[in-house]
Amino acid sequence: MIEVSGVSVRLSGKTIVQDVGFTAESGRMTAIAGPNGSGKTTVMKAVSGELSYEGGILINGHHVKSLQPWQLAAVRGVLPQASVISFPFTVREVVRMGLTSGLNRNPAKAEQSAAKALASVDLSGYEGRFYQQLSGGEQQRVQLARVLCQIAEPTTEGKPNWLLLDEPVSSLDISHQLTIMRLARSFCDNGGGVIAVMHDLNLTALFADRILLMQSGRLAAFGTIHEVLTDDTMQSVFGCPLRINALPADGTPFVLAHSAMQG
Ligand SMILES: Nc1ncnc2c1ncn2[C@@H]1O[C@H](COP(=O)(O)OP(=O)(O)OP(=O)(O)O)[C@@H](O)[C@H]1O
Ligand SMILES: [Mg+2]
Repeated sequence: MIEVSGVSVRLSGKTIVQDVGFTAESGRMTAIAGPNGSGKTTVMKAVSGELSYEGGILINGHHVKSLQPWQLAAVRGVLPQASVISFPFTVREVVRMGLTSGLNRNPAKAEQSAAKALASVDLSGYEGRFYQQLSGGEQQRVQLARVLCQIAEPTTEGKPNWLLLDEPVSSLDISHQLTIMRLARSFCDNGGGVIAVMHDLNLTALFADRILLMQSGRLAAFGTIHEVLTDDTMQSVFGCPLRINALPADGTPFVLAHSAMQG
């Protein structure tokens, strides 16, 4: 479980996130949604231990602040919203950055792990390509493969591992969006936990179990898909006309920007 209580983050002298609290359970996908600049990435960085914060954040019962970097790296993998790599690394080198040094010293095993991770994001055979020469969506999938190399299993000795993914499908075509969302879903179904920042509300409704909705640095809503995806909540948070409909087959909500053409 990841337990966040009363978390506030100040950056450059400004309060960016204020008094956010929620619980992400293993076996569930928790989506963080909200407008640009509402604090989603900042919350993720606090949870992943990259930013200092006030309040409490526990991963599997341990305070994030009390864990050493190697202890954090063993239990959670982080896909940042933007990953700039300025050196001419190959895909193999980038993906292997996710491996622990012990595994990296065993070239055969390291190659096997990298190949497995690349296959899971549909990039088999890309090992020798230069990262900088890949398309935006391919780079995003290589970064995810790096995370999957680091956190290869959903659980370790019965305890959940965590994928913290900041906009994992934002640059992907619809087919690869589904590949990655299914992968995240299966990680949860096998006992792990996922927190994912999402802009695509329809994919969120299809795959996530809980939504944390951010607005101006504060939590606007937290609950199940049906509790949070309502016309009133979404229109007030996003400030535009939105209509939540339901798929006839199973009632899964989908979102249309209605009267979008009228501006
Ligand atoms: N280091 C910083 N110093 C000052 N302000 C910052 C800093 N980092 C982020 N901010 C501000 O904090 C707010 C929240 O940023 P954050 O990156 O968390 O938003 P977000 O919800 O992830 O947005 P997006 O959907 O665009 O990724 C923004 O207004 C941003 O300009
Ligand atoms: Mg962001």
